[in-house]
Amino acid sequence: MVVFVTTNEGKVREAREYLDEPVEQVSFDYVEPQADDLQTVAAHGARAAYTHLGEPVIVDDSGLTIDVFEGFPGPYSSFVEDTLGIERVWELTRSEENRSAAFRGVVAYCDGEPFEAAPEPVDDQRRGHDLAVTDRASATTDEQVDETGVPVKLFEGVVPGRIVEPRGDGGFGYDPIFEYDGKTFAEMHTEEKNAISHRGRALAKFAEWYAESDR
Ligand code: IMP
Repeated sequence: MVVFVTTNEGKVREAREYLDEPVEQVSFDYVEPQADDLQTVAAHGARAAYTHLGEPVIVDDSGLTIDVFEGFPGPYSSFVEDTLGIERVWELTRSEENRSAAFRGVVAYCDGEPFEAAPEPVDDQRRGHDLAVTDRASATTDEQVDETGVPVKLFEGVVPGRIVEPRGDGGFGYDPIFEYDGKTFAEMHTEEKNAISHRGRALAKFAEWYAESDR
C-alpha cells in the first residue's frame, strides 16, 4: 500500500487510477517552505509527513509555468489559483501570441531509509519544450538529503502544452485552461490525462522504481 499525503483529492484520484498498489490518502497539511523549486518543496513535505506519520509516504508538488511570463506562476501556482483564479490567468494570457506552457510535478518518496544510487531515467517528453523555462530543475529522478539527514527520492514529470480559454468539466486546478494535443486536461478522462500528464510521468517513474526496490 502507498500512503499519499495530500489534501488534494484530484491528485489521489489520479494516483489510484495509475498505480497497481492500493493508495491511502492522508490529509496531513504540512507547512510548505518558501522555495522557488518543486524539488525542495516536495522533499520537505515528504520528510515532514514521514516524521509525523512514522510510515513510508509519497507527496506531490506541482506547478504551471507559462513561457511568455518567464515561468510564472510556477511556485506560486496554488496562490495564483486561489487569488486570481484560472479565468483571469486565461485573460492575462489571451492576447499573447505565444501561449505555450508546461506543467511540472515532483513526486517525493520517504521511508526514512537511504537509497541506492541508480541510473537516472530521462523524461523523453521533455524534448521539444522550451528548456529555458523548465531548466531550473532536471527532469530526472534524484535523491535529496538535507541537514536532517532524512533521505528523499524524487521523481519528476513534465508535460508541454498551451493556455486556452477554459473548456471541460473534469480534472482540477488549471486543467480547464491547459491544452495538450487539442484537448484540455479537463476534457480528458483520468486515464487519458495520466497517460501524458506531469503527474502520470512522475508516478510512472515512481512505480517502476518501487516495483524493483525491496521497500
Ligand atoms: P500543489 O502541488 O498542490 O502545491 O499545487 C500547485 C497548484 O497547481 C495548485 O493550484 C493546483 O491546483 C495546481 N495543479 C497541480 N497539479 C495540477 C494538475 O494536474 N492539473 C491542474 N492543476 C494542477
